[in-house]
Amino acid sequence: MTGGPPTASDSRFLHHPVMVAEVVDHLATIPSGVFLDATVGGGGHARALLNARPDLALIGLDRDPSAVEAARAALVDRDATICQARFGQLADVLDAQGVSRLAGSLFDLGVSSAQLDRPNRGFSYRHDGPLDMRMDRAQPTSAHDVVNTWPTERLAGVLRAFGDERYAHRVAAAIVRARPIVGTAALADVVREAIPAPARRRGGHPAKRTFQAIRIAVNDELDQIEPALHAVIDRLVPEGRGVVLSYHSGEDRIVKQVLRRRAGLDDEARFRGLPRAAGQSPPAIELIPRGSRRPRAQEVADNPRASSARFRAFAKRGTQPDEHDREAA
Ligand SMILES: C[S@@+](CC[C@H](N)C(=O)[O-])C[C@H]1O[C@@H](n2cnc3c(N)ncnc32)[C@H](O)[C@@H]1O
Repeated sequence: MTGGPPTASDSRFLHHPVMVAEVVDHLATIPSGVFLDATVGGGGHARALLNARPDLALIGLDRDPSAVEAARAALVDRDATICQARFGQLADVLDAQGVSRLAGSLFDLGVSSAQLDRPNRGFSYRHDGPLDMRMDRAQPTSAHDVVNTWPTERLAGVLRAFGDERYAHRVAAAIVRARPIVGTAALADVVREAIPAPARRRGGHPAKRTFQAIRIAVNDELDQIEPALHAVIDRLVPEGRGVVLSYHSGEDRIVKQVLRRRAGLDDEARFRGLPRAAGQSPPAIELIPRGSRRPRAQEVADNPRASSARFRAFAKRGTQPDEHDREAA
C-alpha cells in the first residue's frame, strides 16, 4: 500500500491479490475456454491468470461499480468482459452471454482493500466516514439503517453469527443506547467502550468484529455463496477447475460444506463400504487438496490482510456425467 488512506476522489484501486501464485498454479492446466472471475475487484488475480493463460476468455463480475471500472481499466488489453452483477446472479449473466460451459472459476470473497481504505465507503473503523458499507450504493439498506434502526436482539444475532463477537449482547445494547450514531468513528468508540477493558487488548481492534458483522449483514454476503458455487460446478467442463478464497469462518464453513457435498465426501462418510445406491449422484468434483491451504508466512508479513485467507480448490471430474450433464444430454 502507498502512504495514507485514499481520498474520495482518488481513482486508484489499491488491492494486493491474495495467494496469487497458488491460484495461478492451480488453474494452470485448465482447458481453453471461458473463465469466470466471480469477484473481479481490481482485476489483480484475473490479470495474473491471463498473463499465464492468454488463451482464456475472461468474464469478471463485481457488484461494486468502482471495482467494475477498475477491472475494466486493468484488463483493457485482454479478452475480458466485466459486468456489474452479484455472483448470486451469475447463472443469468452467463446465460445472457450465451455461456453454458466454463473452463474455470475464482471466488475471492469479502471486501477489497480499495473498499476498506476509502473513508467515504464507511467500511473502516480506522477512519471516520459515513455509516454506509454498501458494496453497491444502489442497495436499499446501509450500515446507518442497521446501526440506528435494528432492535437489540437482531443486532446481537448479527454480531454473534457474522462477527463471532463474544460480547454481542453488550455491544448491541450499547449501540441502541447511543442512537443516533452518525459515523464510523462514533460507532467504533461505542463498541470499544462496551467491551470489557481486559478483552479490548486481545484480538486486534475491538471494533473489528462488529464492523465485519455489520458489513456482512448489509451486503447479505453469505446467502449467495451456496447457489453460486453449485451454478459454477454444474457449468464446469471435465478437467475444469475452481478456487475459492474466504476470509471469515462463516464464509469458509459454507464453502467447505458445498465442496465436500459435491465431492461426495459426505456420502463417503455415510455409506463407507456400501455399493452406490441407484439414483445417488456420482461426485461432480475432486478436492485438491482435500482440506484448505493458508497463505505463506512471508505473504502474511508483506500483506497482513492475507492472514485470515483460506484457499479451497477443486477440479471437475472427467469421467462420469453429473446431474446437469445428464439433463443437458
Ligand atoms: C477480495 S476482493 C477481490 C479482489 C480481486 N480478486 C483482485 O485481485 O483485485 C472481493 C470483491 O468481490 C466483490 N464482491 C463481494 N461480494 C460479491 C458478490 N456477492 N457478488 C459480486 N461481487 C462481490 C467486492 O465488491 C470486491 O470487489
